[in-house]
Amino acid sequence: MTDTRTEGLGAERLRERIAEELSRTRARTALLTDVVDDADLVRQHSPLMSPLVWDLAHVGNQEELWLVRDVGGRAPVRQDIDDLYDAFKQPRKDRPSLPLLPPGEARAYVSTVRQKVYDLLDRIRFTERPLVSDGFAFGMIVQHEQQHDETMLATHQLRSGPAVLTTPPPPEPRVRVAGEVLVPAGPFTMGTDTDPWALDNERPAHRVDLPAYAIDAAPVTNGQYRQFIAEGGYDDPRWWSTAGWAHRVEARLTAPMHWRRDGDGWAYRRFGRWAPVRDDEPVVHVCWHEAQAYATWAGKRLPTEAEWEKAARWDPATGRSRRYPWGDDDPTSAHANLGQRHLWPAPVGAYPDGASPLGVHQLIGDVWEWTSSTFRGYPGFTAFPYREYSEVFFGDDYRVLRGGSFGTDRAACRGTFRNWDFPIRRQIFSGFRCARDASPEESRP
Ligand code: AVJ
Ligand code: FE
Repeated sequence: MTDTRTEGLGAERLRERIAEELSRTRARTALLTDVVDDADLVRQHSPLMSPLVWDLAHVGNQEELWLVRDVGGRAPVRQDIDDLYDAFKQPRKDRPSLPLLPPGEARAYVSTVRQKVYDLLDRIRFTERPLVSDGFAFGMIVQHEQQHDETMLATHQLRSGPAVLTTPPPPEPRVRVAGEVLVPAGPFTMGTDTDPWALDNERPAHRVDLPAYAIDAAPVTNGQYRQFIAEGGYDDPRWWSTAGWAHRVEARLTAPMHWRRDGDGWAYRRFGRWAPVRDDEPVVHVCWHEAQAYATWAGKRLPTEAEWEKAARWDPATGRSRRYPWGDDDPTSAHANLGQRHLWPAPVGAYPDGASPLGVHQLIGDVWEWTSSTFRGYPGFTAFPYREYSEVFFGDDYRVLRGGSFGTDRAACRGTFRNWDFPIRRQIFSGFRCARDASPEESRP
C-alpha cells in the first residue's frame, strides 16, 4: 500500500511516491477522457460544466504554471493559452465557444508538460523552498487534477446517451447501522499543521471547544429521503429557509437530481443507466437547501463543519485528532468508497472498518456531506501558495462539504479536507447527515 503521508520520507522515496501519484492520477484523467469520442469531448453537457477537453488542458496548464515554470524555472510550453484555461477569466458557460485546443492537441500538451515534470522531479531538492518542502507543490497538482477528475465524473453523470463508464457495484452491508451517536462536550483539534499535502484552507490546527451534540451514525438514505418526499416535504415552506423555498419554487425541485417517478416508486439515472432507487444507499445529488429542509422536517439540523470534523477525527481514548475516522493510515478499499472504484454510494453498513471510535460510519467516501457552515479561513489562515485556491471564496456565498464521495480520490480526501459549493448546487456528489444539540440529560458527563 502506498502511504500519502510524506513526512520523514527520504528524498528518493518521496520522488517515487510523487511519480506514482502523478501517473495514477493521469491514468484516471485518461480514462475519463478516452471513453468518449472527440465530438463528445468538445461538447458542453451542461451549462454548469466545462467541456471535458477544457478540464483536460486546464489540468495541464496548472501543472505547467506551478511545476514547470514556478518550481522548475523553465521556459513556458504554451504561454499563449494561459488565459483560455484561467478559470477566473473564463466563466464555465462560455468555455465551449473559446478557441480551445482540440482533443489531440490537448492530449499532446498535457503529456509534454508531464514529461518536463518528470525531468524536474529527478533533480528537485525538496528543501529548496516552502513550496516544494515535502513535495507540496507536486501534491497540490495531484490534488488539483484529482479534483478536476471528480468534476469530469460529474460531467459524465450529466451527459445523455449510452453508458460508457462501468465499475463493479459497491459492497453490500456487513453491519446494521442506525440512529445517532452522542459526542461528549469538550475541545478537539480542528485542522492540521503537520499533514504535508494539506491545502491552505485546512491550516492552521486550532482548538475548538464544542458542547455535546448528537450526530447521525450514517448519512441520510434514499429510503429516509423518500419519506420526506412522500410526506409532502417539497410542498411545505415550513421546512425550508426563505432562500431555500424561493429556490425550490424557482427551480421546481421535487426530488433529488437524476430521479424520476417509476410506477409508485422512484428510479435514478447513474452514468447513463436507469435503476430503481435503492433505499439503503445514502441519498446523493441534493443541494444544501434540500438537505437543510430535510433536517428541519426530521426535527434536527445539519452539523456544523466543526461537529463533522470532531466526529471524524477525535479519538476519545487519547483526545488526539486523527487523519481519518479509523486512525492515521491511508484509506484502503476496506475503509471507504473512494476513488471511482464504484459509481455510486455504498449502502449503509458496508464499511464497518471505516467507522470512528464512537461508531460514526461512512464519514469518508460515498457522498460529500453538506454542513451548515459557510466557508471561512481558520484563525491565523494564510493563503498558500495562491489566493485563488481558497481565500477568494471565503464569505457567506458558499457552504462547506466534508468527507469526499465515491468519486473523490484518496489523495484529495482526509478528515481535514474542505470542499465548498453554492447552496443551490446538486450536480456534485452531495448528500448529508443530520445532527442536533444534546439534551441537558445527555450533556451531563
Ligand atoms: C474545491 C472543488 C470547489 O472545483 O472549484 C479546482 C477545486 N480549484 N481548480 C473547484 C479547484 C481550482 C474547487 N473545489
Ligand atoms: Fe482548476
